[in-house]
Amino acid sequence: MRTELSFALPAGIETELLVVLAADAQTAKGPDAKPEPELLVSDEALKSAAAAVLASGEFKAGANEALLLHVPAGAQARRLLVVGVGKLAKITVNGVRSAAGTAVRFAKPRGIRELAFLLPVAELPAGAVARAAVEGAMVGDFDPDTYRSDRKDKSIERLTVVAAAADRAAVEAGIAEGVIVGESQNFTRSLVNEPGNKLTPTILAQRAAEMAQEVGLGWRIHSTEKIKELKMGAFWSVAQGSEEPPALIELRYEPEGVTEGPVLGLVGKGITFDSGGISLKPGENMEKMKYDMAGGAAMLGAMRAIALLKPRVRVVCVVCATENMPDGKAQKPGDVQTAMNGKTIEIINTDAEGRLVLADGLLYARQLGATHLIDAATLTGACVVALGMINAGVFANDDAAYAKFAAALEASGEKFWRLPLGDEYAEMIKSEIGDIKNTGGRWGGASTAAEFLHVFAEETPWLHLDIAGVAWVETAQPYIAKGPSGVGVRSIVEWVRSNA
Ligand code: BES
Ligand code: MN
Ligand code: ZN
Repeated sequence: MRTELSFALPAGIETELLVVLAADAQTAKGPDAKPEPELLVSDEALKSAAAAVLASGEFKAGANEALLLHVPAGAQARRLLVVGVGKLAKITVNGVRSAAGTAVRFAKPRGIRELAFLLPVAELPAGAVARAAVEGAMVGDFDPDTYRSDRKDKSIERLTVVAAAADRAAVEAGIAEGVIVGESQNFTRSLVNEPGNKLTPTILAQRAAEMAQEVGLGWRIHSTEKIKELKMGAFWSVAQGSEEPPALIELRYEPEGVTEGPVLGLVGKGITFDSGGISLKPGENMEKMKYDMAGGAAMLGAMRAIALLKPRVRVVCVVCATENMPDGKAQKPGDVQTAMNGKTIEIINTDAEGRLVLADGLLYARQLGATHLIDAATLTGACVVALGMINAGVFANDDAAYAKFAAALEASGEKFWRLPLGDEYAEMIKSEIGDIKNTGGRWGGASTAAEFLHVFAEETPWLHLDIAGVAWVETAQPYIAKGPSGVGVRSIVEWVRSNA
């Protein structure tokens, strides 16, 4: 998708599809309060083109509600698409992001390859709105059907963002950021979408290295030998049961002249397929477990964006990639493993493998100099039970780090909900034979998993993102396809920038 900026008068724009937002200006509540949909433009020609249908009551300007008009009177566009953003009094940048995605997903199946999006006239910062519109359009443009032999690429070729000339500087910057972040989120989604046979740990590492090369990140890829040399017994315990070699992916962002301040450590779970291992998962829905590398892919996408946005802070990234398979060489329940720091782990359930690879990943990031940690993982079904497919879970051992993350969520529009750590949860994973065990039983499973990771983050300020419920969109939305969501990328990038 090519992105252009225009300051032309909306009515004069020649385009296949002119997209205008509308909001419900009704402020009264109650059964008699009828919606009062209103176009968010100052252009009188467009307003009058839509006046009759807006007055008809057929269109309520609800969030992502779309209305199409052909040959709108008084405008040069072939079609006018009105997209709702809900109540005018509650309009948000995030609502604009979704509306842009809705417009693109409206256009795609109709073979429309080019559209012009009018930034809304509303009480919102112009730069943030422009950025969100571009991100939303890019996210909307992604479809997961890469292996369909009759796939017709219906991607949008050109997006024209139409803004007020007075906002030029802010809008230009916003569009540039939106392109970087949107493409990075889609990079993550394209990785998560790949099946386990096409995206082995080795291939994931290759994709990471290619991306790093392209955007100018430092990178190193290691496999079995180095993992053993580093004494990553927890990571290796998962990898030992697979024919596919594991990959330890290491990326580095070092802005010139920055030699002081924090080093941020981004750590991702990269299980390219999770069968459960000897504690085999039930067959139903097992195919979903190809997305068990979504946390790792989110970190790779975030690193791509960071390399291009160039914040003044150093960042290292570690992704521990392996399959989790049952095999003659696979680890067994009851085995005791030793992590890189000498801590011993009793394996209760080989399906609790994410925390094992992350244990050594967190330790390795600290060894690489990380002073602040953030990890992302499709870690627990318990988190999905707690929060559904709406919010992801976030845990933190440090309120200052959490506060920055919460602020980042404002900009990213992603939904995360803080869940508790605590000594009582830590107690639940004490082992009789060793230091800790890899499951704490059924109750509080998201928190005991987080406390397991806490043992390896220790006192280093650390955030843990459990994205099990939201890494895959189960129900298509007007603004996003069913499939990989790329969740985490935007928030992690914002969090990194807020640490610069
Ligand atoms: N990858 C799964 C978690 C998961 C569940 C991701 C649903 C996406 C959707 C993880 O490795 C796992 O199997 N966790 C177990 C842990 C249990 C054995 C303590 C779980 O949550 O059931
Ligand atoms: Mn598992
Ligand atoms: Zn897993």
